[in-house]
Formats: sequence, structure tokens, C-alpha cells
Amino acid sequence: MFNGKSILITGGTGSFGKKYVKTLLQRYQPARLIIYSRDELKQFEMQQEFNDPCMRYFIGDVRDGERLTQAMQNVDFVIHAAALKQVPAAEYNPTECIKTNIHGAENVIRAALANDVEKVIALSTDKAANPINLYGATKLASDKLFVAANNMAGGHPTRFSVVRYGNVVGSRGSVVPFFQKLIAQGSDHLPITDVRMTRFWITLQQGVDFVLKNFERMYGGEIFVPKIPSIRIVDLATAMAPDLEQRVIGIRPGEKLHEIMCPADDSHLTLEFADHYVLRPTITFASRQNHFETNASGEHGVPVAQGFEYNSGTNPVFMSVPEIIDFNRVAEAES
Ligand SMILES: NC(=O)c1ccc[n+]([C@@H]2O[C@H](COP(=O)([O-])OP(=O)(O)OC[C@H]3O[C@@H](n4cnc5c(N)ncnc54)[C@H](OP(=O)(O)O)[C@@H]3O)[C@@H](O)[C@H]2O)c1
Repeated sequence: MFNGKSILITGGTGSFGKKYVKTLLQRYQPARLIIYSRDELKQFEMQQEFNDPCMRYFIGDVRDGERLTQAMQNVDFVIHAAALKQVPAAEYNPTECIKTNIHGAENVIRAALANDVEKVIALSTDKAANPINLYGATKLASDKLFVAANNMAGGHPTRFSVVRYGNVVGSRGSVVPFFQKLIAQGSDHLPITDVRMTRFWITLQQGVDFVLKNFERMYGGEIFVPKIPSIRIVDLATAMAPDLEQRVIGIRPGEKLHEIMCPADDSHLTLEFADHYVLRPTITFASRQNHFETNASGEHGVPVAQGFEYNSGTNPVFMSVPEIIDFNRVAEAES
């Protein structure tokens, strides 16, 4: 599906973007792979690693609609990964987070429509489900924009969908590199915010593969959620440093005990497929099909029970300490 195609990735120098590029280059022969991000140094470093003739590096900000429109000329597919995603930074700099995550999303939509891009997938997060922090709230607003954009398409062929998933093992600024740093520094303990805390757990490669698959599955308007395991943070700490004391420091601002991917209030919209869920749009699309039970790949989904919630605390699939060790080892080898 990606052979001979032009693909643009906003935030292409980030954890997701680099893995995505690596995977695409291994499996397909795209015509052009365009990296769109702000920092020239990150792009320079990425060019040392990825210098295939199809690679293009564009400096640009998603806040700059004109630049985005120019960058998307003759592009077939867009993956929108650029975001400000640190919860505390978003709380302290709310307008900056809104400009990048919400206004940036609007710009991506307008640029994609203006260039008749075929398909756009925007990355979202479990923090966007019933959000309690600004990062999650901006990502929910972004999700809503991308879903509703299918109604703005008019005569344009462009279709927009969202992929929502949980904690990526080892991504920049996440708990695994934080614990690794403390262990390497010889810390006498690992800080645990709350012994009850759980998180969804996914490797970068699983995230990338899920996004690739959903380009085939999408009609436009879906929020795709993968079925993935949960971990307890205390089990993660034990897996990484079995002999280190675990010291409870209390929950941080904007943090939840458990994350949600499919809220109970959306259960009437949620369909269960073999390896994922789909949140159907709350709105009806004009002059479009509005049935999502069978996706574009021919897979069938069934409605979940009323009140069903996909929550990291009640997830039927939890990893044990040995399983977390294996899982993290695989994630590290893949990175
Ligand atoms: N990591 C996770 O655990 C996780 C979990 C669920 C969902 N997600 C979502 O997945 C996406 C990618 O995350 P990631 O882990 O790859 O993030 P990341 O490693 O922090 O990368 C973010 C990328 O966005 C770019 N960027 C930031 N602001 C920008 C702007 N205003 N204009 C253009 N580019 C901008 C950054 O480059 P410059 O700074 O050079 O611009 C960088 O390339 C995000 O949308 C995030 O919400 C992540």
C-alpha cells in the first residue's frame, strides 16, 4: 500500500517517527518519505541514520499552516505524530500546548484537504480518554477535530482517522528511561507514585505496526485502539531492579491511577474486533457511509456491552514480572 507513495510524518524525528521510517524503509519502497519537524539538529542526526534517496527533511512547525500546505504537495498519506506531550510542561505552559496540539491539528487537516491527501492518521493517547490534564484534553480536542474533519472533506477524497494507545516502553521522557537513569546513577531506591498504579504497555514497533494496519482498515472517522497488556508500576520497578527499595512519593499533578482507552460513556459507540477496538464517531457523516462494523479490510466488529470500559486497572491481560522483563528486552532490542 505504501510502495510508490509519498508519505509525510509530522514529528518525524521523534521516537515514533524514527521507528515508523525504519519500518517503512524495511518493508516498502515509498516514492518520498517527508520528515516535518522544527529542530534542525534532530533532523541532521536523523539524516546520518536515514539517508535513503526517498527521504526528505523539511523544517517546519505544525503551528504554521502555510508551511504545512506547501510541505504536503503531492503527498498521499500523512501521519500526524508531532505533539507536546509532557504532562507537567502542558500544565505550566497551557497556551503552548494548545497551539501545538489543537491549532497544529487544525492546520494539518486544512493542509491535507488543500492537497487532496488520500488518508491521514493522527496519533492519540490514552490520556485523551476522560482527560484530567491539559495534555490529554488537547489530544481529545485534536481527536474530535480529526473525526469531524471527515465532514469538512466535501468533494475532497481525504479521510481522517485516529489511533489511540498507551505508554510506549522506553519512549523519550517515559518511566523506563527514568528508572534506568536512577539505577545507573546508583540510587538507593526507585520512586513509586502509588502502589496501585497501572498502565497500558506497548512497544514502539507494535504501535507502528498498528498504525500501518489501520491505513488499510480505515474508512475515516474511527478511533482505533489496540488490545494490549497492562502492567503494575510496582512490578515494573521489581522487573528493572529487584533488589532496590520502592519508595512511595505520592501521585503527581495530572496523573491518574489507571488509564482508560475506551470510556464507559462511549460504550454505545465501541466495537470490539479480534485484536482492537474501534470508537465510532458520535456524529453522522453527510454523503458518506456510516457503518463501521465491517472495516475496509473486511474484518468484523461487534458492539461491546453497555458500560464496558477498556481500563488499564481492569484489563484482563496483566503482565507478570518475568513477562515484563521479556517484554522490555524485546522493546529495547527493537529500538
Ligand atoms: N510516547 C508515548 O508513550 C506515547 C503514547 C501514546 C501516544 N503518543 C503520541 O504519539 C505521538 C508521537 O510521540 P513520540 O513519543 O514520538 O514523541 P516525541 O519523541 O516527543 O517526538 C515528538 C516529535 O514532534 C516534533 N514536534 C514537536 N512540536 C512540534 C511542532 N510544533 N511542529 C512540528 N513538529 C513538532 C518533535 O520535533 P521538534 O522538537 O524538532 O519539532 C518530534 O519530532 C504524539 O502525538 C504522542 O501524543 C505517545
